[in-house]
Amino acid sequence: MSNQDHVLVIGGSHGISLELVRLLTERDCQITAVSRTRGGLGDDRFAGNGVTHIECDVVNGDLSKVELPTSLTGFVYCPGSIRLGPVKSAKAELLRQDFELNVVAAMNCFQAAIPALRQSGSGSAVFFSTVAVNHGIAMHSYVAAAKGALQALAKTWAAELAPKIRVNCIAPALIETPLSANLLSTDEKKKAMAEKYPMGRYGTANDIAEMAAFLLSQRSRWITGQTLGVDGGMSGIVPL
Ligand SMILES: NC(=O)c1ccc[n+]([C@@H]2O[C@H](COP(=O)([O-])OP(=O)(O)OC[C@H]3O[C@@H](n4cnc5c(N)ncnc54)[C@H](OP(=O)(O)O)[C@@H]3O)[C@@H](O)[C@H]2O)c1
Repeated sequence: MSNQDHVLVIGGSHGISLELVRLLTERDCQITAVSRTRGGLGDDRFAGNGVTHIECDVVNGDLSKVELPTSLTGFVYCPGSIRLGPVKSAKAELLRQDFELNVVAAMNCFQAAIPALRQSGSGSAVFFSTVAVNHGIAMHSYVAAAKGALQALAKTWAAELAPKIRVNCIAPALIETPLSANLLSTDEKKKAMAEKYPMGRYGTANDIAEMAAFLLSQRSRWITGQTLGVDGGMSGIVPL
C-alpha cells in the first residue's frame, strides 16, 4: 500500500480497528476514521500521520451529513457486539439492536462509501463477522444471527459490485479488545479461553488487523465474496 491509498475506517479508536490504523499508517496510507470517540487515535504517534478523525455515531447519528473523501481505495466497518445469552430468555428488542449495529448501520455506511470506492477504480471493502456464524457456539444467538446476515449481504454486494469493488468478511474467534474484556477479566477465564484453541491461545488485535490490511491491499486483488476465518483453528480442526 502507499500514500495513494485512502481507507475509510468506521471505528479506529480502539480494538482491532486501532491496530489496523497503526498498520496502515506504517504503510503510508491515508485514513479517515469515523467513531464516537477519538480514543487511541489521540496518541502522538498518529499526529500529522495522514489520519483524520470524524466524530459520529453511525447507529444514532447521520453519516450522510458527514463530508467523506471523494475517492477511496478501502472501506472497513468495525463496530460490532458480543451479546451472549441463552435462547430461552432471548429478547426481540436486543436482537433488533444487534441488527441495527451489525447490519443496518453497516449497510448505510457502505452505501455512503460506494461512490468514492468506484471513483478509485479498484476499491476493497472489509466487514467483520464471527466464527459463531458457521461454527455453532452456545449462547451466541444474537451475534451469530446478525453477523450471518452481514456475511450474506457482503457476498451479495461482492457479486453486484465486481469487478470495480471487492467485498470480503473476516470471521474472528475471541480477540483481546475492549469488546471482549468481560470474557477475559480474570486469569482463570484467560486460561480457560486459551485452552479452547488448537493454536493454544486466543487472538490479538494484530492477528486480525494483518488480515484486514491484506484484504485492503492489491496483494488480494483476486479475492472477493469470501469470509476468511482467522480463529486459531477453532472452526476447522480438532487436535487429537
Ligand atoms: N473482539 C472479539 O473477540 C471479536 C470476535 C469476533 C468478531 N469480532 C468483530 O470484530 C469487529 C471489531 O471488534 P473489536 O473487538 O475491535 O471491537 P471494539 O473494540 O468494540 O471496537 C469497535 C470500533 O467501532 C467503533 N464503534 C462502535 N460503535 C460505534 C458507533 N455506533 N458509531 C461509530 N463507531 C462505533 C468503536 O469506537 P467508539 O467506541 O469510539 O465509537 C471502535 O473504534 C466487530 O465487528 C466485532 O463484532 C470481534
